[in-house]
Amino acid sequence: MTDPVTVRPCRAEDRDAVVALWTACGLVVPWNDPAADFALALSKENSTVLALCLGNRIVATAMVGQDGHRGWIYYLAVDPAHRGNGLGRRMVVEAENWLAATGMPKVQLLVRSTNERVLAFYEHLGYVKPPSTLMQKWLTNPSP
Ligand SMILES: CC(C)(COP(=O)(O)OP(=O)(O)OC[C@H]1O[C@@H](n2cnc3c(N)ncnc32)[C@H](O)[C@@H]1OP(=O)(O)O)[C@@H](O)C(=O)NCCC(=O)NCCS
Repeated sequence: MTDPVTVRPCRAEDRDAVVALWTACGLVVPWNDPAADFALALSKENSTVLALCLGNRIVATAMVGQDGHRGWIYYLAVDPAHRGNGLGRRMVVEAENWLAATGMPKVQLLVRSTNERVLAFYEHLGYVKPPSTLMQKWLTNPSP
């Protein structure tokens, strides 16, 4: 019998499982604290982390948030053992639906320009590179 698939917003107690998934997916970088990122997303009304569960086990996530003008996706992750089965597409659709339900007309995301595999994945799902340049500045500790 196969485990049922459910998608739900994360709860605080999901933190360790989610951080372990993000680590296994290579999404943890020195300048971001994944546990703090998780807690921050859950602490705001306009953001959350969506989890796809097989039975009780979280095997995919997408962090979603909106800034009042645009929707954003972060931490899209599928357990390496479950890739190639449509779960990445499912989580992008879930994230888009969550953002659309908050009234956002457009969704944006960041992918390192060297990460050609993930860029190709998003292009396959209809995402395009915009004719604009992202600029940024840390408001907390200086980081790379
Ligand atoms: C990127 C990632 C989420 C994809 O998850 P996945 O479950 O393997 O993807 P899916 O099986 O849902 O693939 C969805 C579609 O994209 C296609 N696809 C997958 N990878 C692709 C690639 N590199 N190039 C082009 N198309 C791709 C699939 O063929 C599938 O097409 P279809 O639905 O038309 O048949 C997964 O590889 C992952 O977690 N990577 C590590 C974390 C990461 O880098 N996240 C992004 C941070 S910016």
